Amino acid sequence: MGLLDKKFIVLGVTGGIAAYRTCELARMLVKDGAGVQAVLTGAAAEMVGPVTFQALTGRPAEVGRGGNLAASGMAHIDLSQRADLIVIAPATANTLAKISWGMADNLLTTAVLSSTCPVILAPAMNTRMWNNPLTRENLERLQRLERMILVGPAVGSLACGEEGAGRMEEPGAIFEAVRTVLSVKDLKGRHVLVSAGPTREPLDPVRYLSNRSSGKMGYALVAAAVRRGAKVTLVSGPTGLEAPWGARVVPVETAAGMARAVLKHLAKCDVLLMAAAVADFELRKIARKKIKKSQAGLSISLKPTPDILLRVGQQKPKCLLVGFAAETGNPVPEAQRKLKAKKLDLVVANDVSLPDAGFDVDTNRVHLVDGKDNRELPLLSKEEVAERILDRVVRMLARKRG
Ligand code: PMT
Repeated sequence: MGLLDKKFIVLGVTGGIAAYRTCELARMLVKDGAGVQAVLTGAAAEMVGPVTFQALTGRPAEVGRGGNLAASGMAHIDLSQRADLIVIAPATANTLAKISWGMADNLLTTAVLSSTCPVILAPAMNTRMWNNPLTRENLERLQRLERMILVGPAVGSLACGEEGAGRMEEPGAIFEAVRTVLSVKDLKGRHVLVSAGPTREPLDPVRYLSNRSSGKMGYALVAAAVRRGAKVTLVSGPTGLEAPWGARVVPVETAAGMARAVLKHLAKCDVLLMAAAVADFELRKIARKKIKKSQAGLSISLKPTPDILLRVGQQKPKCLLVGFAAETGNPVPEAQRKLKAKKLDLVVANDVSLPDAGFDVDTNRVHLVDGKDNRELPLLSKEEVAERILDRVVRMLARKRG
């Protein structure tokens, strides 16, 4: 069951070359459980055929002024009333202009004008069209309406060969925006600080000590907190993951760097989620030049890194402190020890020796340990684990306030 289960989304496609990337968005929405009705403008249908969208969504796509819906007994107005959300990707300068002036000359613009639900607009156009004062004026008018949400455009190389603002945002980012708009906002007004990924402790200018953390668990927490309406700051060690949509990212390299960043942002946050796999040791002395192979067999001297959570716990901050415990074998006893020793509110304990849990996989098996209500969750995707952790966090925040 996806987060978009039982949601009905009108997917508007207008005539930009980025329309082919909307096929990927349609697939993501359907896979996450949404019912999707594709509505193409005539120009869009010249870029990508309606049959493609029909195959991806399981519903005949509408083109131009439409026709299939009327044949199936659904009036155009019913479409906009049934929709939980309208997303238009790509949204051309032409369609943005029409919507901003309340025009309704095809099924898509008619659906928008007669709707009351949120509308996500993912603009895509040439940079000069994007920067044109007329387009800017149209956008200003659109953004006066709270339900009109702009996603992008991104800056980069455009289909016309130019560089600049005007690229349609990545389908994955638009998908996350859809899920964010349709999620319950139980963390609205809260500031959540998340650490994720590994740290790297340099040996010399080309080598480092690190671990197998991919950052997936922490990034899943970030995405879930953004969806629930929190302001999110992510302190991230080096990962291969895309920066999550809607969060402020503070990149760090070493445990010392992560400690500085976490302590800097701590005062303003309501919750700290330490999912990072912080290195426990760093080099006593980092070689300034590359260590030569001829020195094979050399030994290195290590010293402990700062224990970030311990330091944070000692400061007795007002925020909720959530640590992780990565153990090999039953993680609960060690989680209980860490809960007390680091003065935490909750520990998420995982047995990282299991093949489907812990480092660098998409699933996890965790125990939520808070001393009173210890609970083992089944094998879940990291996205679902993140949701369950935040369910607990929301309850704990409510108790703290009450
Ligand atoms: O990134 P993924 O590939 O998705 O993998 C997820 C994960 C296995 C990294 C994650 O689920 C996890 O368990 N993160 C914590 C890893 C860890 O460092 O555990 P620990 O038991 O060594 O540390 C306990 C807690 O203290 C952790 O919250 C850790 O962030 C924190 N810590 C550790 C060392 C240190 N110097 N400072 C710290 O604050």
